[in-house]
Amino acid sequence: MTATPLGIRLEHCGKHFPDGTQALTPLDLAIHPGETLVLLGPSGCGKTTMLRLIAGLERPDAGGRILFGARDVTALPIEKRRVGMVFQSYALFPNMSVRGNIEYGLRVRGDAPAQTPRQRG
Ligand SMILES: Nc1ncnc2c1ncn2[C@@H]1O[C@H](COP(=O)(O)OP(=O)(O)OP(=O)(O)O)[C@@H](O)[C@H]1O
Ligand SMILES: [Mg+2]
Repeated sequence: MTATPLGIRLEHCGKHFPDGTQALTPLDLAIHPGETLVLLGPSGCGKTTMLRLIAGLERPDAGGRILFGARDVTALPIEKRRVGMVFQSYALFPNMSVRGNIEYGLRVRGDAPAQTPRQRG
């Protein structure tokens, strides 16, 4: 199956956890098709929470919406989103390269690694 890059949009996405922690104040973000976005910020500023919202591991607070292309995926469970997430060190394969770790999910799913973006420049 050929993967066509889709844009990702977060609209007014905030996140409170049940213990009252506000991990994200509501934010709007557009990631364009094929764009690589790097999140930088101090520990606890909400980077992982934002990635978990995109992957579908967390739901945004009421009023928040997540769109893949034109499709609203806010209520779509993680297994239907077709999002790969590579976690931090404890969940990596230490015997594989960075590329190998990223490709692993694609290989398991049956997507040819040749479809993953090649390094440029
Ligand atoms: N399940 C949870 N329940 C309560 N609070 C949480 C939960 N997950 C994260 N938090 C809190 O939300 C805030 C944002 O956490 P998050 O893990 O998104 O930060 P981060 O930017 O990824 O940090 P780091 O750079 O350390 O990975 C922190 O205050 C964190 O303690
Ligand atoms: Mg984090």
